[in-house]
Amino acid sequence: MVPDWKSLFRGSAQPESSGFTTEIDPSRLPRHVAVIMDGNGRWAHARGLPRAAGHHAGMVAMRETIRAADDLSIGAITLYAFSTENWKRPRTEIQYLWNLLEEFFRADMDELVERNVRVVFIGDTRKLPSYTQKTIAKSIERTKDNSGMIVQFALNYGSRAELVDVVHRLAQQVKDGTLEPDDISEEVVTQCLSAHCVPDPDLLIRTSGDKRVSNFLLWQIAYAELYFLDEMWPDFTKAHFYEAILAYSKRERRFGGLK
Ligand code: IPE
Ligand code: IPE
Ligand code: MG
Repeated sequence: MVPDWKSLFRGSAQPESSGFTTEIDPSRLPRHVAVIMDGNGRWAHARGLPRAAGHHAGMVAMRETIRAADDLSIGAITLYAFSTENWKRPRTEIQYLWNLLEEFFRADMDELVERNVRVVFIGDTRKLPSYTQKTIAKSIERTKDNSGMIVQFALNYGSRAELVDVVHRLAQQVKDGTLEPDDISEEVVTQCLSAHCVPDPDLLIRTSGDKRVSNFLLWQIAYAELYFLDEMWPDFTKAHFYEAILAYSKRERRFGGLK
């Protein structure tokens, strides 16, 4: 069932271009941008709409963000779409989110392929409905040889669960005698985490005014630049994305050293 409000918001909040792009120094782009797409529910509530309407409008913003990142030749983007804690929500809302994912891949897969994007996933996708798992597998398979931007969807993702999984795997290797405890280094842990050869995020963006990381990429964002904005995710436009990249490009990163 396609609700009526859908047509009202499709692409409506997306101004086409931004002067920011010309100001961005291509040599100072983040290699990997992580995004906490938050505020769909509040966006809908402010308009007297159901939360589902917010999620749908959020999907449109996500599409535009992928385009904006690809147009800027960003190497990788990770989109937090469903956390391990989001199972606490009503079943109908969760169901709507999986259906929305179907809709997204049905509508956008060809464009992603055309853009040479490689689609990958983090999080425990085995807990997702079987039709969602099939869609995920198909999108991975269809884009696996693409060499352009990596779009990493975080689905049923929680950083603590991910770290516990790493600890389990390393403990098993030690038990099997294939790993010495002294050989466990930051690199070893990082390798266990980064299944998709994506570097740590240089920039983490969160919308909705909340300034927290909500169990997202805790190890990987150790030195990420944080960028919070008050806009709700459905209001996030290409211009906001370019603004975030521009702000990032002007920051001085020291990694604990001196200038
Ligand atoms: C983010 O928007 C989307 C998901 C977590 C799936 P929310 O649904 O969290 O919206 P708010 O934070 O309640 O406004
Ligand atoms: C973070 O948003 C998760 C996603 C955007 C998918 P939440 O809305 O779940 O985070 P909290 O509950 O405000 O920390
Ligand atoms: Mg939220």
